Amino acid sequence: MQPEFDSLTRVMKARYSCRAYLDKPVERGLIEQIVHTARRAPSWCNAQPWQLTITSQEETEKLGKALYKHASQNAMQPDMPWPESYVGAYKDRRYACGMQLYAALDIPRADKPARTAQMLENFRFFGAPHMMLVTAPSELGPYGALDCGGFITAFTLAAQAAGLASIPQAAPAAHAPFLREYFGLPEDRLILCAISFGYADEAHKANSFRTGRAALDEIIDWRE
Ligand SMILES: Cc1cc2nc3c(=O)[nH]c(=O)nc-3n(C[C@H](O)[C@H](O)[C@H](O)COP(=O)(O)O)c2cc1C
Repeated sequence: MQPEFDSLTRVMKARYSCRAYLDKPVERGLIEQIVHTARRAPSWCNAQPWQLTITSQEETEKLGKALYKHASQNAMQPDMPWPESYVGAYKDRRYACGMQLYAALDIPRADKPARTAQMLENFRFFGAPHMMLVTAPSELGPYGALDCGGFITAFTLAAQAAGLASIPQAAPAAHAPFLREYFGLPEDRLILCAISFGYADEAHKANSFRTGRAALDEIIDWRE
């Protein structure tokens, strides 16, 4: 196989959703390089609908405190509808990755307060030094969001290749009105998700497991 394929495969295999970070900021120049590469993601008509709000370490901590408090006391109000339900294989996969996380953290299934506390870590961005909020113009509809999904994947891979760890997070976007007001974002931009990123705390239990993937025969329907 081409060396480029091997390199890409290595990066894709090494990337994982990181839920504990070192207390160390990332230089702005490196963040810019990663975005520079990730923006090569394809988008319909090359519209490149992603707009990014990126916080410094100090601002991430400030936002995290405010959002954690807000999310602990308020119901979700996402801009984009949340999935209605996960059924069949989707339900199984969702359950499996949740159980992997709780097992890694020694949280018993029945310990709801501990699970809630772990879920709330989403709102302080798992201690990451930086947070990137990804928004799309609402008039582009679901395809604008689809384009941003490509950018999000590209960003996580570019970050991995640059020696950083990251995690896309829908949870913060569930508090869209709070974030819109906090950052003064216009009404006509959909708040899609956050990506927390920084240097991984590799010794932390939350980073000790890797999720699985469906076999090819589960996802490809060959027609010959
Ligand atoms: C759009 C999107 C939203 C996600 N939202 C969250 C989230 O709110 N909280 C979280 O802990 N993980 C979140 N994740 C991470 C997924 O749980 C993770 O990608 C999945 O379990 C596969 O594991 P891996 O990324 O380690 O390979 C999200 C991932 C994506 C792509």
